[in-house]
Amino acid sequence: MKICVLPGDGIGPEITAEAVRVLRALDLPLEFAEAPIGGAAYRALGHPLPESTLDLARRSDAILFGAVGDFSLDTLPRELRPEQAILGLRKAFNLFANFRPARVYPELVHASTLKPEIVAGLDILIIRELTGDIYFGQPRGIRTLENGVREGFDTMHYSVPEIERVAHVAFQAAMKRGKRLCSVDKANVLDTMQLWREVVTAVGKAYPEVELSHMYVDNAAMQLLKNPKQFDVIVTGNLFGDILSDEASMLTGSIGLLPSASLNDKNFGLYEPIHGSAPDIAGKGIANPLATILSAAMLLRFSGGLEAAAQRIENAVEKVLAQGYRTGDIAEPGLRTVGTKEMGDAVLAAL
Ligand code: IPM
Ligand code: MG
Repeated sequence: MKICVLPGDGIGPEITAEAVRVLRALDLPLEFAEAPIGGAAYRALGHPLPESTLDLARRSDAILFGAVGDFSLDTLPRELRPEQAILGLRKAFNLFANFRPARVYPELVHASTLKPEIVAGLDILIIRELTGDIYFGQPRGIRTLENGVREGFDTMHYSVPEIERVAHVAFQAAMKRGKRLCSVDKANVLDTMQLWREVVTAVGKAYPEVELSHMYVDNAAMQLLKNPKQFDVIVTGNLFGDILSDEASMLTGSIGLLPSASLNDKNFGLYEPIHGSAPDIAGKGIANPLATILSAAMLLRFSGGLEAAAQRIENAVEKVLAQGYRTGDIAEPGLRTVGTKEMGDAVLAAL
């Protein structure tokens, strides 16, 4: 497999380096090539998603992505901001299905801000639609009305095929897990979401074994805190999925543990931790590399079909947590707090 490595900004280079070390240690026929992305690419080449980086990605079988985002570039016109790199990649490769699993490791039950009995044993999967919705809807902009008042506007929309394809992915994922799917929408207020509910219900007819339920997004935000274990798989749109997946990450204790896969219909994927570039700790060697290492496992599973190798990585991560290795974000008195590279070393040793 040819793997395109896009480290990006902030802690991105530190965490992807550890994931690449882990992948290299597996003795698989993997080739790596790296390119700049995000703020780093803007500084080097004048654009957050340079054509040369896109080309490298096109010639690869999968993308391992670090993080983008750099406060000092926030005043650039929107199309040049670092975040446009990840949005552009999602669009360029049609990565419409975003898998964001949230699992609570037994050793980390106390790392969550919620009571242990609420989160112990939690294992949910959020499937977020990733190439539509208000993120990409036109028209959008900031305009001045005739009366001189400025207003901002964005457009939410979903077409039937867009909803159908992500619904199929979600039902199929549910079939492989607990066979329960909760579709999250705002059908009580938004027409787009009324169509969402209608289409997901229709697609569900093809999956009679899956128990389908529907929930409004405000209630879902509450239920995730009240009783998160009621969920198996959640499917939702781009904007709601962005918000709910950050919320779900906190159930597990740290956003530094959560991997993600963004897939198209050809199993090409972009794999990234769900956290951002964390500029406040960049370059200090203290970021948690486990979310990126676990993203590398998802890469082997989804784009490489290498289930056994993916499980080796996941088992190694479980082992280092059981051994008591902790980065600062999940530090506990009495356990060993390590830096990014030491955590990578521990995973390699466990492998
Ligand atoms: C995410 C991030 C991105 C998003 C940003 C960086 C554009 O928050 O992947 O969840 O909003 O999708
Ligand atoms: Mg987000």
